[in-house]
Amino acid sequence: MPSTTGPRSQTLESLLGRIQAHTAKIGIIGLGYVGLPLALLFNEAGFPVTGFDIDPEKVKALNNGRSYIYRIPKTEIAAAAAKGFWATDEYAHAKDMDALIICVPTPLNEYHEPDLSYIRETAKAIAPHVHAGQLIVLESTTYPGTTEEVLIPVLEAGNKAKLKAARPEQDDPKTTFLVAFSPEREDPGNDTVARKDIPKVIGGVNPAASEVAGAVYNSIFNRVVPVSSPAVAEMTKLLENIYRCVNIALVNELKMLCLRMNIDIWEVIRAASTKPFGFQPFYPGPGLGGHCIPVDPFYLSWKAKEFDFHTRFIELAGEINSAMPYNVVDAVTAALNRHKKSLNGSKVLVLGVAYKRDIDDLRESPALTIIEELQRRGADVAYHDPYFPKVGRGRKYNLQMTCAPLEKLGQYDCVLIVTDHSDYDYKKIVQEAKLVVDSRNATKGIESEKIVHC
Ligand SMILES: NC(=O)c1ccc[n+]([C@@H]2O[C@H](COP(=O)([O-])OP(=O)(O)OC[C@H]3O[C@@H](n4cnc5c(N)ncnc54)[C@H](O)[C@@H]3O)[C@@H](O)[C@H]2O)c1
Repeated sequence: MPSTTGPRSQTLESLLGRIQAHTAKIGIIGLGYVGLPLALLFNEAGFPVTGFDIDPEKVKALNNGRSYIYRIPKTEIAAAAAKGFWATDEYAHAKDMDALIICVPTPLNEYHEPDLSYIRETAKAIAPHVHAGQLIVLESTTYPGTTEEVLIPVLEAGNKAKLKAARPEQDDPKTTFLVAFSPEREDPGNDTVARKDIPKVIGGVNPAASEVAGAVYNSIFNRVVPVSSPAVAEMTKLLENIYRCVNIALVNELKMLCLRMNIDIWEVIRAASTKPFGFQPFYPGPGLGGHCIPVDPFYLSWKAKEFDFHTRFIELAGEINSAMPYNVVDAVTAALNRHKKSLNGSKVLVLGVAYKRDIDDLRESPALTIIEELQRRGADVAYHDPYFPKVGRGRKYNLQMTCAPLEKLGQYDCVLIVTDHSDYDYKKIVQEAKLVVDSRNATKGIESEKIVHC
């Protein structure tokens, strides 16, 4: 049990006091879609916040009052700077922080395995600067065990003062720092729930880590949900995302069947959603995208193998969801065929390349696979997306395309709706286009022979 008297309690009490007074210094590491909004939330609540990022362009942008995330206006960055927020790529400043929160990427590598290099590099970089009593929280989505098996060993190995992570059986405040895991549960583009209303799950390595992390997050979130360990918190996040991934796969499979049976899956979902219990609607689409749902489940299936366990639901869902972009291309081919045209040589306009509606995020977007596959089969492809003037080179694609103007739609043999941005005037699009293939039901309510749902 942790001691509650003596020097430990003084260190803890003083840190808790600073947190309560909102004077504790907060460092956010990784200023992307997760880290930057989090830094702004702490800043808004009056905490002194320092942002850390290895990308010098992001650091420069923030320190010059610019934003690189569409939904964060530059006025918000300027307001935060006026209240003391600043960014740096120098880890030496980590030593001045009371709490460091890590929000770095956790992608899959080319073999579809977890790539924890960003977490390892971050831990290596901050390790020399960690001080006794400091709180370190990992927010990046990852498999159960990462905090204790990966993060802590690197932090301990790189610490010249030989500090250790506080554990239930070893929590001397002079020789330990505090570690917790708390997953980010945000849903980008969903403005129906304010970020501070999303309960924050927290699992500390020892009770003091849970208490301090709970106090930190309690200052900006309306509810914190303590759990007994970092592994429970890590697994909670994966359960949430696997639940979505599997249900989306189920509805994608049923959509394929409904298309064959000439039943409108959207009408079916609407009707089923009237059930007041036991049913939550999920919607079909052209495939999964984003940094979370197509990636996170495979963190667990990889880890499960260590326990001689095969996560069949995850694999099956992955199989169905990853086939969806190819089904969309097949649907375009069939629709053109009905117009006595082959895909090879046809002009196709892809509408929307973001991975979902109204966001400026291209990561793992099914549109990229669709464009590449259309090109591979000989189509002459253009795209339009209000959020992306250009699509260049990414981890898994190299398109080098410029956004086409949204005009003269009659020049295309087919307009393919991949992302249903709300800015689009779908009625006008259908009027002008020769043929519309709709993978999102964006044209609902519009009666036209030109529309093909897929
Ligand atoms: N984007 C989301 O909606 C979302 C939602 C829930 C959870 N998550 C999880 O949150 C984590 C971060 O995701 P994101 O979308 O913010 O990623 P992101 O790519 O937008 O941002 C990550 C940032 O970390 C920086 N970075 C990388 N290595 C670094 C290092 N060693 N030191 C400092 N900075 C470093 C990058 O330059 C980048 O700015 C991931 O694990 C992701 O799975 C994301």
